[in-house]
Amino acid sequence: MYILSPSILSADFTRLGEQVQETADAGARYIHLDVMDGAFVPSISFGMPVIASLRKDSSQFFDVHMMVEEPGRYVEAMKKAGADLICVHQEACRHLDRTIHQIKECGLKAAVALNPATPVETLSCVLEEADMFLLMLVNPGFGGQKLIPYTLRKIRKLRDMLNAAGLQTDIEVDGGVTLSNVREILAAGANVIVAGSAVFGGDAGANTAAFMNIFKEFEART
Ligand code: DX5
Ligand code: ZN
Repeated sequence: MYILSPSILSADFTRLGEQVQETADAGARYIHLDVMDGAFVPSISFGMPVIASLRKDSSQFFDVHMMVEEPGRYVEAMKKAGADLICVHQEACRHLDRTIHQIKECGLKAAVALNPATPVETLSCVLEEADMFLLMLVNPGFGGQKLIPYTLRKIRKLRDMLNAAGLQTDIEVDGGVTLSNVREILAAGANVIVAGSAVFGGDAGANTAAFMNIFKEFEART
């Protein structure tokens, strides 16, 4: 199952609710919410109040990407704001196992993210613990960057590791995804696709529909 998770970081915040609705109407089942603390990554984005406002009008699955040091501090608050899944960076958690279980005990899905330069082998101990893995295809912190080519090999490697363990866990990819390179990314083994500028950089509904057509093409093949 291929899923689009549009990242609102590139949306027009004066018409945020409307733009999110356009992606839902066109078939995006997830919405990707990039929370940045200005410490783990250089920039600061938004937090609980924005997520809670969107929650009032959206029935999409809220995929919250925490680019925050020690994100375990915010699990309860994110749940209250309306998160369905909390994704934490391996690099930001001193006690990753504890943080994953803290998220699951709250009744939310837990995902683990890796920066481009962190090898996928570091996930071997938690392969069965997480509900999803997120591979960054750019250095986190900003939308609209260009995909780092060696990250495609990491998708393939992680899919092989999961297959070898008999797991069909979702692999989400984030950063630099476009309508022109998404086929290559799907072929490498990713199935949850984050796209910020490729969706909100133009007509959000039309761009979402274009991604959905490519997904259909791939679903027909497998
Ligand atoms: C980057 C964020 C991404 C970002 C992706 O640090 O995690 O989710 O919004 O933006 P694009 O798709 O424009 O690279
Ligand atoms: Zn993200």
